[in-house]
Amino acid sequence: MDFSNKIVVLTGGSQGIGKEIALAYGRANGTVIIFDISIEEAEKVSNEIIKNGSTSKSYLVDVTNRESVSKAIKEVIDTFGRIDVLVNSAGVVNTKPFVDVTDKDWDLVMNVNFRGVFYTCHEIFPFMIGAKYGKIVNIASIAGKKGGGFFGNSLYGASKAGVIGLTKGLAREGGPHGINVNAVCPGPTDTKMLEGLQDDVRKSLINNIPLRKFATPKDIANVVLFLSSDLAGHVSGEITDVDGGVMLD
Ligand SMILES: NC(=O)c1ccc[n+]([C@@H]2O[C@H](COP(=O)([O-])OP(=O)(O)OC[C@H]3O[C@@H](n4cnc5c(N)ncnc54)[C@H](O)[C@@H]3O)[C@@H](O)[C@H]2O)c1
Repeated sequence: MDFSNKIVVLTGGSQGIGKEIALAYGRANGTVIIFDISIEEAEKVSNEIIKNGSTSKSYLVDVTNRESVSKAIKEVIDTFGRIDVLVNSAGVVNTKPFVDVTDKDWDLVMNVNFRGVFYTCHEIFPFMIGAKYGKIVNIASIAGKKGGGFFGNSLYGASKAGVIGLTKGLAREGGPHGINVNAVCPGPTDTKMLEGLQDDVRKSLINNIPLRKFATPKDIANVVLFLSSDLAGHVSGEITDVDGGVMLD
């Protein structure tokens, strides 16, 4: 896949799945713009992309803050002229039982996972409509289909179900303007998000995955790049599981 001359904005690119997606766009010659609250880590990823011969820039962006998102998008448009691809990977997880969840937990999970996707899409959509071209890929989760359950609680599942609904709605509205909007639902994926899992919990999760392994961030990145490429030109509103077969049951 070749993303030469494509301007890619990616949230949550400083580590984990987002980092791997950023590096993959870099390898595919894309211009990679990272929005993250961990700016130092994000800049390290940008430097790695630049070292390998592509263009990259990181911005300190808190996706829960409209001003922060809007200011960075304006700067990207002023500097690079347009945004061809948006990938929303920033996210946080919560695993508490429902009765222990606080308003603070709700606000954090909903604001990062759901409101953040609303803000980036809302700010970028007008530019994509103007260009009559755009590719958006939102990282949801199988928890959004199962109501948590596998990893992440009901709160996390609800935030990701919101992302799935928004993805479908935006695919409907964006289609007539040449904008494809899709989501990827990873199953358990080896990143810091799953650090600290007890060995027995890890084993039991793996035993419930038909392919008997966690995804790697690269497994997720491969599908994200495909969905945002012109190879997937006729795919929109698709909610794609990358889960080793978990959703079979
Ligand atoms: N790891 C998994 O098993 C798994 C499974 C399903 C879905 N997901 C989803 O994939 C995405 C990436 O997960 P990951 O495992 O790489 O997580 P991670 O914790 O390794 O990375 C999350 C990234 O989001 C950034 N971030 C958090 N809050 C932010 C904010 N307010 N503004 C901007 N950036 C912010 C972090 O700095 C970090 O770079 C998330 O949306 C997550 O819900 C992960």
